[in-house]
Amino acid sequence: MEFGRIFIVFFLFSSLFTSPAFAGDDAKVSLALYYESLCPYSAKFIVNHLAKIFNDGVIDIVDLDLIPYGNARVESNGTITCQHGPNECLLNTIEACAISALPELTEHFKFIYCVENLVLKHKYRDWESCFQETGLNSEAVFDCYHNGNGKKLELKYAAQTDALQPPHKYVPWVVVNGQPLYEDYEDFEVYICDAYKGDSPPRTCAGLTVLTTKEKEASRVHHVSLIDEAL
Ligand SMILES: *[C@@H]1O[C@H](CO)[C@@H](O)[C@H](O)[C@H]1NC(C)=O
Repeated sequence: MEFGRIFIVFFLFSSLFTSPAFAGDDAKVSLALYYESLCPYSAKFIVNHLAKIFNDGVIDIVDLDLIPYGNARVESNGTITCQHGPNECLLNTIEACAISALPELTEHFKFIYCVENLVLKHKYRDWESCFQETGLNSEAVFDCYHNGNGKKLELKYAAQTDALQPPHKYVPWVVVNGQPLYEDYEDFEVYICDAYKGDSPPRTCAGLTVLTTKEKEASRVHHVSLIDEAL
């Protein structure tokens, strides 16, 4: 029947337009980074590893969630204590405010990358220079910090971090589709590529294979900040 034939043609035609470019968000892999701003291992992960995904195409298959709170603690009177002291609480909150006030991922990531790069160089006190460095507007970020919204965001991140199952043991704590990578976190792209079931894997994924247990053991190093390390 003519109608049936038209229907089939239409079906084929429309499926052409729903493949790769229109794959949608369902296939995306969730990637969550639980970290704290002054932890050198967190900074190193963000600057030397996570930043790569913006250049190698992996960002296209990922929903990235940054949670700047880490091993901080909410005291019974409601104040937040941070593992590396008050400056860490300040920068965790500033980064939370950047995420909120600059909702575009590439914008707030650029800012957080800049701050964490200063952490690596032991120059984090110059963090305000990251607004000039990135050309991003500081006003909304400072507003968020000073009007109490930053504190609210940190309490939200505290609840999110404390609800982790299994609970985090250290930072950086990298979670792919709900599964923590433990000490394999620097190989996060392997896990992302493996978890991705969509039609358009980035070319990077072709070059990555799941590591054997032996390879994992060989690359396993203690690049983490344990919860009680500096409290
Ligand atoms: C809240 O409790 C912490 C830890 O017990 C203490 O250091 C801090 O001074 C208290 N802050 C206020 C505002 O009471």
